[in-house]
Amino acid sequence: MKPILYMAPIMGVTGCIYRNTYSQFFNGYDIAVMPFINNTSKKKSLLSDVLPERNKANFELVPQILHKNPKDFIILAKNLYEMGYKTVNWNLGCPLPMIRKKKKGSGLLPYSDEIVNFLKEVIAELPNQISLKVRLGSEEKSDLANLLPMLNDFPLKEIIIHPRTGKQLYTGEVDLTAFEESLSLTNHTIVYSGDIDSLEKYKILSARFPIVNRWMLGRGGITNPFLPEQIKNIESANKDANLKRFISFHQALLYGYQKELSGQAHLIGKMKEVWRYWVKAFEGGDRLFLDISRTNNVKKYLDTIEQFFREKPSARY
Ligand SMILES: Cc1cc2nc3c(=O)[nH]c(=O)nc-3n(C[C@H](O)[C@H](O)[C@H](O)COP(=O)(O)O)c2cc1C
Repeated sequence: MKPILYMAPIMGVTGCIYRNTYSQFFNGYDIAVMPFINNTSKKKSLLSDVLPERNKANFELVPQILHKNPKDFIILAKNLYEMGYKTVNWNLGCPLPMIRKKKKGSGLLPYSDEIVNFLKEVIAELPNQISLKVRLGSEEKSDLANLLPMLNDFPLKEIIIHPRTGKQLYTGEVDLTAFEESLSLTNHTIVYSGDIDSLEKYKILSARFPIVNRWMLGRGGITNPFLPEQIKNIESANKDANLKRFISFHQALLYGYQKELSGQAHLIGKMKEVWRYWVKAFEGGDRLFLDISRTNNVKKYLDTIEQFFREKPSARY
């Protein structure tokens, strides 16, 4: 069975312009979960990332909501439904200390009764289907193990699991034993998310978890934008052609941001966020990142990039 691939929400990177541009140059993703939104307003400026008229990607899009107050969640989910979004994702995974402290994101995971009450109230009102994105817990990985059996009777679309605790942020290893245990505790469709950064890693995980057919790629899918095609075995070209395709993607992304952002520093700052991941695919990438970090105008930025590509850097793809 062909795997179903998800573009992970990575706040600051996988926004609308990235998704649109990516899908002009690459194939392989079936779905993208969008970085979370956290307001109840209908104001277009606050919903710009999810506005249907701005979103041109050729994969399904699922907006994500961070609210833990059912009323706010329902208002936003209904707005999104009117925009055409038949599924919304509830963020129970955000590990940021500020968010966790407010009992939001992964900070809500220890409070399984609150989660159950929330779902009862919200599901009764929602026209949309709801999926969850969770971690193993806030501080303890037992949070999810306690919660999962309580979710079995809810009509959830699916549960995306990133097998770390919130306290871990993005450090340490993913806990595959705890993930395996999670599979045995749920009757919902499970999507795996965490550290898939190569075809080999994907093969190891898919061999270990044959009942999982949905895989979310985050940082690894940004670093290597060819990864979804590699996983799906979509024809692979030679390294020269791949580098050319990557360069065209870079130019189109830069142009996309240029049209939206005002000020050179803002534009370069945005490109830096993506380069933080991209450089990991290149030999000499660290040096390039340093050079880009010292850049404060577009001319110098373009010179730096052109010089780097002129030397035909060796890439992982
Ligand atoms: C900078 C950054 C921003 C993220 N933003 C979100 C977000 O908005 N919503 C969410 O559910 N997960 C978010 N994540 C988590 C990812 O979606 C993903 O689950 C996690 O990075 C593990 O997958 P990976 O190892 O493939 O990156 C973010 C991760 C990073 C590193």
